Amino acid sequence: MSLKANIVKLVAAAAIVGFGITSVAAQSDMPPFGSPHDVDYAADLWKAMENLNLAGPDAIRALPYEGTEPHGFVLETFYAKATINGHTGDLVVKRNYGPEGVSVDEVMANASAHLGAITVMFKREAGYDDEDGNWFYAKFLPDGSLDRNGKDMALAGRVAKGASQGCIACHSAAPGDDFLYTTDHIK
Ligand code: HEC
Repeated sequence: MSLKANIVKLVAAAAIVGFGITSVAAQSDMPPFGSPHDVDYAADLWKAMENLNLAGPDAIRALPYEGTEPHGFVLETFYAKATINGHTGDLVVKRNYGPEGVSVDEVMANASAHLGAITVMFKREAGYDDEDGNWFYAKFLPDGSLDRNGKDMALAGRVAKGASQGCIACHSAAPGDDFLYTTDHIK
């Protein structure tokens, strides 16, 4: 799709949700996350995860392990590849289980009752966010909707680029310069 077509689509999407845009803004002028475009992209990401059986009622399971804040007390992590809008990239899916004090055995016995959130990193095309590894971040609730921050912004996109806290700030400190904590094998 041409840039112009993209802009038209963005402005149309923004108008629908009452964003009150007064001038035509290219994607780079949009907030780094939570825009209508990010929300649409996250919906495509969730669909891709369902198709890969990584989300939804039939999602595959792995042996959960004890985790740490902020992600949850018991975790499952999956590494895959997904294709969105013709771009194929690395996909890392982390299921976050709680509440505090929940055991691995309790999660094994009834995973869906303990699932708090699904945090996802998807490697987008070059130019999306070159200085931060081109990762698209999303925090989904178990039903596939997006979690929101205190300012009611959907947690999808370059979350929260430029801020001292949040997905990018913390993941930029991961060893190996790949923004991933659990592996240094995906660049
Ligand atoms: C305060 C630090 C911190 C913040 C904020 C944070 N993470 Fe993480 N994240 C971690 C740590 C530590 C791990 C490794 C956890 C483990 O042992 O599995 C991790 C793991 C992950 C993984 C698995 C890939 C990897 O890095 O190993 C994903 C996906 C992920 N986080 C997504 C997110 C998203 C999306 C957000 C924002 C909504 C976020 N994270 C916010 C610290 C953080």
